[in-house]
Amino acid sequence: MSVEHRRLAPGLRVSRVLNGLWQVADQERDGARLDPEEAARALEAHVEAGFDTFDAADHYGSAEIIAGTLARRREAVRVLTKWVPSPGASSRAEVEAAVDRSLRRIGVERIDLLQFHAWNYADPSWLDCLFHLADLRAEGKILHLGVTNLDAVHLDMALHSGIPIVCNQVCYSLLDRRPATAMAEVCRTHGVQLLAYGTLAGGLLSDRWLGRAAPPIDDALTWSQMKYRRFVDQAGGWDRLQEVLRAARRVADRLGVSVANVAGRYVLEQPGVAGVIVGARAGGRSYLEDNLRLFDFSLDGDALAELDGAAARLDPIPGDCGDEYRRPPYLTAAGDLSHHVTRFPSPYPVRHGSDGRARASSGTMWEEVAGFSRAVRAGNRIWVAGTTATHGSRLIGGDDAGAQTHFAIDKVEGALNSLGAGLADVVRTRLYIRDAADWEAVARAHGHRFREVLPANTLIRTGLVGEGYRVEIEAEAEVRASPE
Ligand SMILES: NC(=O)c1ccc[n+]([C@@H]2O[C@H](COP(=O)([O-])OP(=O)(O)OC[C@H]3O[C@@H](n4cnc5c(N)ncnc54)[C@H](OP(=O)(O)O)[C@@H]3O)[C@@H](O)[C@H]2O)c1
Repeated sequence: MSVEHRRLAPGLRVSRVLNGLWQVADQERDGARLDPEEAARALEAHVEAGFDTFDAADHYGSAEIIAGTLARRREAVRVLTKWVPSPGASSRAEVEAAVDRSLRRIGVERIDLLQFHAWNYADPSWLDCLFHLADLRAEGKILHLGVTNLDAVHLDMALHSGIPIVCNQVCYSLLDRRPATAMAEVCRTHGVQLLAYGTLAGGLLSDRWLGRAAPPIDDALTWSQMKYRRFVDQAGGWDRLQEVLRAARRVADRLGVSVANVAGRYVLEQPGVAGVIVGARAGGRSYLEDNLRLFDFSLDGDALAELDGAAARLDPIPGDCGDEYRRPPYLTAAGDLSHHVTRFPSPYPVRHGSDGRARASSGTMWEEVAGFSRAVRAGNRIWVAGTTATHGSRLIGGDDAGAQTHFAIDKVEGALNSLGAGLADVVRTRLYIRDAADWEAVARAHGHRFREVLPANTLIRTGLVGEGYRVEIEAEAEVRASPE
C-alpha cells in the first residue's frame, strides 16, 4: 500500500506521516553537529518509501539544513518549518530576518509552510508577528502560514482577524486527546487542518514499553521520551499507560499490526487531522517498514470504541492545546521552559507616578487623546479601563463577538500582568454589548476565562463608541499577595 497524502492547502500536499526532525536536535544534544550530507542520505529511504514531507524548526539543531540538503537531492521533498521567537515584540524587520534565516538554511526561495509559536496571549505582539508573517506570505517568501500549539480560542481569534492560517500543529495521541473537542470544532468551522505530534509519545506508545517498568525521567531517555513521561504522569501514571498499551495490543492482535501502528492510525482517523508527525532519526534506529504499515489497515468502529474507552480512563491532560508551554505543569523535556525562554517581558509599558500609582498603557491612540490609562494600580487595587478588541489600528476578532471578547480579556490580562497581577485577582467585571443577540457568545467567553475566578459581573446592553465593536469590558482587581 502506498503512503497516503493530503492536500494541506493549495499547492501543498503532505504525506500523512510526516518525518519529524526534533530528533535531530536530540542527536546533536552534546553540541556536535551532524554532517548534513550524511544525515540527508540516512533519511533518503523515507522519501523513497513515500514519506516525503519533513517537519523542521528554527531551533531543531541542523534540521532545516539537513532537510534542505535532502530537498535538493529529491524533488518530491517538502520542508515545513517553524519560527519560535522569544516572547515579546518582534519588529517587521526581525520577523523578516527570521524568515530569511530559514530560507537560507533550507536553501529555497519560498518556505512551503511556516508555523508560528505564540508564547503569551496576554502580550498582543503574538498577533503582530502573525500579521508580519501574513505580509511576508503575500510578498511570496512563504507559501502557507501555519501555527503550532495555538489553543482553540486563539486559533479562532486569529482566523476571525483575517490571518490566513491553514493548519495548527498540536500534540494528539491516545494519551492526549485535547484537540478532539473545541479545537476540532474550530478546524471544522474554518476549514483548518491539524498536524499531530506526539502520536507515539516518543515511542512510549509502542510494543517496546508494553509490560516494562517505568523508566526514570533522566538523561538516559531521549528528549522525546522525557517529555512524554511527563504526559504519562499527568494522565494518571505508568500503570494507566499500560492499560492503554494492552488495549492497543488487543486491537493490534486482531489486525496483525504493531501497537505503534494502532496508536498512529487512531490519530490519523480523527476529524481534522491531515497527518501525524512521527519523529525520525537522521541515522541509527529507523521504523520505516513498521510505519509503512499504517496505510495497510484502518480501525473499525469496535477498535475505535475500545481505544476510546481505554483513553477515557486516563486523566485528561490539563487545559487546551499548547498549554503545556504556557503554564504549569510544563510538559517539556526539561519539565520547565529553560530550553526555550529566558524571560517574559511586560506586555505593556508601565509608568510609575510620583503619586505612588503605576499606570499601564496599551498604546491605543485614544489613551493619548482622551487622557487615560489602560489600567491604574494604587496599592493592591487595580482598575482596568473599558477595553475593546482594538490592537493598534486593528480590530481583532473580526465581527465575531466571542473572539472580540477573548481578545479584550487578553488585553485586560496583559494590563494586569504589567502591573504585577493576573486574571485570578479580578473581583469585578462589567461587559457592555451593543447587540442583544451577542449576549450568549460574550457570556460564554467570559465564563471560559473566569470560570474559576468568579468575579462579580454585570452584563449591560448599550451603545458602543467605534465601528465594529461588539463588546467592551471593564475590570477591577485586588492583588492578594504583594508583587515584591
Ligand atoms: N510543535 C511542537 O511543539 C512539537 C513538539 C514535539 C514534537 N514536534 C514534532 O513532532 C515530531 C515527532 O516527535 P515527538 O517527540 O512527538 O515523538 P513521536 O513521534 O511521538 O515519537 C517518535 C519516536 O518514537 C519512536 N518510533 C517511531 N516509530 C516507531 C514505531 N513504528 N515503533 C516504535 N517506536 C517508534 C522513535 O523513538 P527512538 O528514535 O527513540 O527509537 C521516534 O523517535 C518532532 O520531530 C517534531 O517535528 C513538535
